[in-house]
Parts: sequence; structure tokens; C-alpha cells
Amino acid sequence: MSRFRIKPLGDILEHAEKKRLKRQLGAGDLVLLGIGCTIGTGIFVLTGVGAAKAGPGLMIAFVVAGLACAFAALAYAELTAMVPVSGSAYTYTYAVLGEAVAWLVGWNLVLEYAVSAGAVAAGWSGYVTGILAQGGFHIPPEWTTAYRNGGIMDLPAVLVSLFITLLLVRGTHQSAVVNRVLVAVKLAVLGIFIVLAAPKIDVGNWDPFLPFGWFERVGFGENVGVFAAAAIIFFAYIGFDAVSTAAEETRNPNRDLPIGLIGSLVICTLIYIAVTAVATGALNYTELANSKEPLALVLREAGFVFGSTILALGAIAGITTVLLVLLYGQTRIFFVMSRDGLLPEFASRLHPRFHTPHVVTIITGLFVAFIAGFFPLDEIAALSNIGTLFAFVAVAGGVMVLRVTDPDRHRPFRTPYVWIIAPLAILSCGALMYFLPTETWIRFLLWSLLGMVIYAFYGYRHSPLHPARAAAVTGDGDIPPAPEL
Ligand code: ALA
Repeated sequence: MSRFRIKPLGDILEHAEKKRLKRQLGAGDLVLLGIGCTIGTGIFVLTGVGAAKAGPGLMIAFVVAGLACAFAALAYAELTAMVPVSGSAYTYTYAVLGEAVAWLVGWNLVLEYAVSAGAVAAGWSGYVTGILAQGGFHIPPEWTTAYRNGGIMDLPAVLVSLFITLLLVRGTHQSAVVNRVLVAVKLAVLGIFIVLAAPKIDVGNWDPFLPFGWFERVGFGENVGVFAAAAIIFFAYIGFDAVSTAAEETRNPNRDLPIGLIGSLVICTLIYIAVTAVATGALNYTELANSKEPLALVLREAGFVFGSTILALGAIAGITTVLLVLLYGQTRIFFVMSRDGLLPEFASRLHPRFHTPHVVTIITGLFVAFIAGFFPLDEIAALSNIGTLFAFVAVAGGVMVLRVTDPDRHRPFRTPYVWIIAPLAILSCGALMYFLPTETWIRFLLWSLLGMVIYAFYGYRHSPLHPARAAAVTGDGDIPPAPEL
């Protein structure tokens, strides 16, 4: 065993071999899966926050964030095809960079999954509150405003988080068909948005195009400009890497995985640019900035009240799926970490009847509800971005390390021009991290520190790779039945 406690790839793969999933997904399915997991609160809600930072230049910000994701996606695809096992970046890192880094990556995946689920729930609340208000039912604002923003709590966000948690405890089965329908609904309402609002574009709204330039720090570590907006709306791309989790079920991973990852990214980027162009053209960015449901606002202001209702309903349905996927992803990552001994055993305990990891699901759900109810959307989104970007950096680094340490292992997919693409992924994701607010950095560092303390006092001692335990490796539990996507 190495000093860095690397978990041999062979061991990880051997476990996966025992439970081979049926290879039935093609490139098209993966593209749909990617779109289904990606389009949500980011485009429907954070467009307002992004517009406040970059004005109409938000269109460029989406390209910048999309490019960083594309580099990271190519790196992801190599590791995923090679280690087609649950646990995402955490599992890959365990195999390449060792247990301590893997723990840190897994710990920060909590930001990518659980914390971003909180942000997604907050976005959901914006549209639900808006549609209820349109129907004459006004929830008192203190019950729809996060505590940190001066309210009591964002109650709808709390309730939806708890509701999804319940579904997951019971073992939700979202079929591929439902996923397809929901993707179609999302794309349709965004299409309706573009068709209705495009004729209302006043090119005067695009001038000035870059009211805050490319990047500037204002106040205490607050940033504005295109790059600052890119760092925030990166959130709109979180989830596309879910495609990589389907590697085991893909017919021809070598061809289909990169198509799935890059294809869904390109489609999302094009949609995001078109929607932003229309939104900032039809309504001045200053008005978008303050809305919790900016796209519905654009349609209402343009006189399409019915259209705005349809859009809101589609947004609510679409955002709900993203929430389900993120919460589900978090519970399964915890499950794998617990199976590895880095988290207590109860996290991988299964419900006797539902066969779901109910304890960890309930704890995660309560955490998500707390985040969603008490913290402002932009702060949560920024925190989840920094954790995700960190994981992307680790994965890109891992691909290069493995090319050196294990050059002969079979790679169903090879990152093209790896010595250019992987460093570009690290640079671009690192740059997006840099452009996030100072407060986000402080929270990220504190969170990581807390993680390292927990590892030192718990994971390090309980790991099966601990010399005292290596002889008695147990816990070969299988991943509980998953909702099909
Ligand atoms: N990308 C996902 C969303 O925007 C997390 O909701």
C-alpha cells in the first residue's frame, strides 16, 4: 500500500464487476440525461444575479463558463470510462491521488450536490411564489425570504426539499421516459420564451454591452464584470457530469460518453446564450437583476401573462427533477464514502422495506432544507460552484497523474491532447474559482478545514486502508437500487 493510501484501481473495478449494469444507453440518451440534470435554477433564476454582474455581457459569461466545463468534461470522460463506478470524482481521486485528497474531494462534493440542491430549491421557490401570487395567493414575504436576507425563512424551499427527501426515502423510480418528457417540457418552455420575447427586443437594452467590464473587485471582495458573472452562472452547468455516472450502462463508452458530455454541454450553452440574449434585450438588465423569477418577469412585462404562467409551470417541473437528481447523487456519494469506512456505518444502512439509505437521505434532506431556507440563493450557488470547480481541478489533475503512473491500463476513452486539455481544465476552473467572491473563499476554506479535521479524527482511523484494519477489510455493500434516470 502506498504512503498516500491509494485504493488500487483493480479493487474498485472488481467490486463494479460483481454488479454489472446492462449496457443499454446510447449517445442520444446520454445527451438527454445531461440536459435533464443541467437546466434548472441556473438559467431560470440566476440569470438575474448574473445580469446584475455583467449586464448583457452575461451572454459571453455563459460561453466562458461553458468552455471551462468542456475542458473538464473531456478529462472526466477518460476517468469515468476507465473507472465506471459510483462515487464520481471521489472514487476517481481515491484511485489516483489517494485517500486524503479523495476525502477532501468527496467532502467538497457536498457543496456540489447538497449545497447546490439548496440553491435549486431556493430557485424553485421563486417560481412557485410568483405563480401563486399571480393566482391571487400571496405568501407573506418574510416566509419566502431567506433568514440571511432579512426574512424568517424561505418556506416553499424548505418544504420542497423535505418532500423530495421523502420521495427518495421511499425509493423514487424516475424512468427514462419521465426524464425525456421533462427534458422536452424544459426545452419547450425555453423555446416559448424565446419565440414570445424575441420580437420585443430593443437593441438599446444591449448598450452598453459590458457595463461593468471584464472583471473588477468592488467593496469587500465582491466582484463584477463578465468573469465574475461566469463564476456565478457556472452553476447553470452543474449536473452535466451526471452523464459520466452512466458510464457503466453505456453501450459504447468510447464514443458515446464524450458525445453525451460535450453534446449536452454544447446544447445547454447555445440555449443559455439565446435565452440571455433575448432576456437582456427585451428587458433592461437592471430590472432583471432584482427578480426571483426573471424569465417569467420578462414575459409578463412584454404582455404575455399566460405565456409567463406556462413558463413558470415548466420551470417548476424542470427544476424539481434537478433537485431530485442532486439529492439522490449526494446520498449515493455518502453511501460510497461510508462503505469505504470514511463515514460512519449508519450512512450505508438500508431501510428494511424500501432498501434505500434512509438515514443518510434524511440527514442530507434536513441539511438541504436548512441551507435552502436560511441562506440567499447567490451565496449558496457561489459556494456550490467553488466546491464543484475544486472537484473538476482534482479530476483533471488525476487524469494526468494516471497517464504517468499507469500508462498501460486500458482506457476506453482517451482525453484528446491530454497535456493541453487537462492543464486548460485546471487553469480555467481555477480561474473561475478565483473570480468568486472573497466570502465564498473563506467559507470554502473553513469547510475544507472542517473536512480535514473530521478525516484526521475519524476517516483516517476507520479507513480499511488503515494498517490496523487492512487485514480485515469488510463493507462490500452494494449500492442500493437507484432511481433510473
Ligand atoms: N445546473 C443546475 C441548475 O441550474 C444545478 O439548476
